[in-house]
Amino acid sequence: MRLFRSLTRAGCRLGSSHSIPLATLAVCLVVPSLRAQAPQDSDAAMHRFVAGLMAKMTLAEKIGQMSQIARHAPPVISHEESVRREQVGSFLFMRDPQEIDRLQHIAVEETRLHIPLVFGFDVVHGYRTIYPIPLAMAASWDPSVAEMAQHMAAREASAVGVRFAFGPMVDIARDARWGRIMEGAGEDPYLGSKMAAAEVIGFQGKKLGAPDSIMASVKHFAGYGATSGGRDYDESEISDNLLWNLYLPPFHAAEQAGAETFMAAYMNLNGVPASANAWLLNDVLRKQWGFKGFVVSDWETVPNLVTHGYAADAADAAARAVNAGVDMEMTSHDYLNYLEADVKSGKVSAATIDTAVRRILEAKYKLGLFQHPYAPEGAAERELVSPEQRHAAKLAAERTAVLLRNENGALPLKRDVRSIAVVGALADSKADTMGSWSLAGHYDDTVTILEGLRAKVGSSVEVRFARGVELERGNDSIFDPQFASPKPTLITQQQKDAAFAEAISTIKRSDVAVLVMGELQSMNGERASRESLDLPGDQERLLEAAVATGKPVVLVLLAGRPLTIPWASQHVPAILDAWYPGTEGGNAVADLLFGDANPGGKLPVTWPRSVGQEPLYYNPTLSQIPNDRDTMYWDGSNAPLYPFGYGLSYSKITVGGLKLSDEYLHAGGSLKATVTLHNESGVAGDQVVQLYVHQRAGLSARPVRELKGFERVTLQPGETRAVTIPVNAADLRYWSASDHGWHEGTGTFDVWVGDSSVATEHATFEEKP
Ligand code: NOJ
Repeated sequence: MRLFRSLTRAGCRLGSSHSIPLATLAVCLVVPSLRAQAPQDSDAAMHRFVAGLMAKMTLAEKIGQMSQIARHAPPVISHEESVRREQVGSFLFMRDPQEIDRLQHIAVEETRLHIPLVFGFDVVHGYRTIYPIPLAMAASWDPSVAEMAQHMAAREASAVGVRFAFGPMVDIARDARWGRIMEGAGEDPYLGSKMAAAEVIGFQGKKLGAPDSIMASVKHFAGYGATSGGRDYDESEISDNLLWNLYLPPFHAAEQAGAETFMAAYMNLNGVPASANAWLLNDVLRKQWGFKGFVVSDWETVPNLVTHGYAADAADAAARAVNAGVDMEMTSHDYLNYLEADVKSGKVSAATIDTAVRRILEAKYKLGLFQHPYAPEGAAERELVSPEQRHAAKLAAERTAVLLRNENGALPLKRDVRSIAVVGALADSKADTMGSWSLAGHYDDTVTILEGLRAKVGSSVEVRFARGVELERGNDSIFDPQFASPKPTLITQQQKDAAFAEAISTIKRSDVAVLVMGELQSMNGERASRESLDLPGDQERLLEAAVATGKPVVLVLLAGRPLTIPWASQHVPAILDAWYPGTEGGNAVADLLFGDANPGGKLPVTWPRSVGQEPLYYNPTLSQIPNDRDTMYWDGSNAPLYPFGYGLSYSKITVGGLKLSDEYLHAGGSLKATVTLHNESGVAGDQVVQLYVHQRAGLSARPVRELKGFERVTLQPGETRAVTIPVNAADLRYWSASDHGWHEGTGTFDVWVGDSSVATEHATFEEKP
């Protein structure tokens, strides 16, 4: 075995003849038993290779391939032993390149069939270099940024040997109480679909076998974003109408973009657990959409089939999950422990096991793992937090920020400012700059907002920091304390009062105050639902007291969801939502505040005034009081605080003069909507042109507006430019419960184009069959 290891180190990778010097190649060729047959680059070759391999596998070895073990799961046997005994096909959460390499060597060299492992990880918004959270990525309204960020993440992950990303999360979420809204693209299926496809391409590249490509796992299939009351893990009851028209489209887009794997969701969908839902996994995903890859369960969703009151016991759970189309079990051991018996008893057929294993081995083949099982030597050192990664992360953070308010040019900050009060514990927290699901990120790499501002202004400006108020989650987060926000240091009321007073006096002594407020990162993500959307803790009181000093106040928000800040929206002159901006977040925010970067993001989710409005979204259907939706609550307004698609910039770019290329749209065709943009200001900046339609009559009640096109463009000072957005008939198709079928949009459509979902430029067209 030593010989093999030294050969592989010398460049004798399985099948990698192009990189092998002739002398080494000669040595490689004399140890053919250790080399898997060099597969060729075609589906037929892949099928032959995998079929040949499977013909040699025992049932136990096959079931081993269907098991994914977590690094920190309570070990039944050591990880090394599970690999040697071929009881594992994949690991999750390994992130040490040496550990990955060592286990891979055992799999390739010390097992009977030399099948490589595939290492999975939550590459959600970056690997070691942390990019802005996915909700922020959607706020860029620029799929190329999402693609770029996931490509950069794939480069880092693959450099340490991780080739399986648990992402993108494409769950549509209309309810901001749900903590996992931060992991997706927000409330809209059109924007969500564009982001989903971009992320898949970012991870996987043009071809999965490239050394820096990693396979995507599109999650959580399906309906997790609709959990009751925004409560994580609760059931999702979704009508067919919403399933087909709202929740499934981003999954379909990700599948069309070539996603290699899908992850089944935790919850019950309309009463049937998603992880044993044959209709979802076999009928929709595989038969209707033609998905060829494999499905992994979510964390312990197989044993949880018993918790759901669905499976009778663990053996039943394993049988029902695999029969429904879950090919790989994450973390738990029901497949390992019970599938063999299930096959013997006839509950699961041998053919079902073969199908699952074939899908998994084909994915490994496509990744090139049979040829190149190891990460290239030195890749991790070269790639992790490289200057290129930092540059990309900063760019992404700049493009994702949303300027919510800017009265009388409060921002950008003036160059002649002499002192800045930076207030808020979040301003100096590495964890809360990175955001939840930054599991391979390092605090030391991260630039906080305080650090970013200090670095930007240098010694000529005094930057004074005061924590003001501390934040604390009411109960523990599910993540290791290692990933948690630092514990509050202010314990007694006296300490709290003193810190509050110090913050106010710091503001009074300074030219301008930058308050960094929002949520701890641990208040977002998994098991992080909220019953309120207010600024947690005593932040609102501090904010009001800060404004009362009369000093100019800028509020920078760090949060993974909309927050109810009606008072701030009227009284704080400038509000910048930076979401969780990642490793380079502090530098990006500093540039945004001083105008060296110009915010151009738009909200991918409606912001409510009060939590009681949730779920609140821009695209409902109407009934009784079409013109009076805003007064449907007698004790408050139903108008959003900020509408979907809203966001300002330091430029003033108008959108006007809507013209359609045709008054008719023919089935299968498209027409063009052209508007004229004019940058009235002296500042170069971005505008996101958004196109919404409303079908006046159909086979279902039609939503008031639906996004059907957008483009983010940059205009120089004074520039005027025509921007054309296509309207495609294919995008107007909808599913109707009246006959359980898909329909072309027909009849009269309203179309609005503008800079948010309340766009007013209006025209109409007719769609003809
Ligand atoms: C559970 C989460 O629901 C899923 O999104 C994640 O990928 C897995 N755990 C692995 O961390």
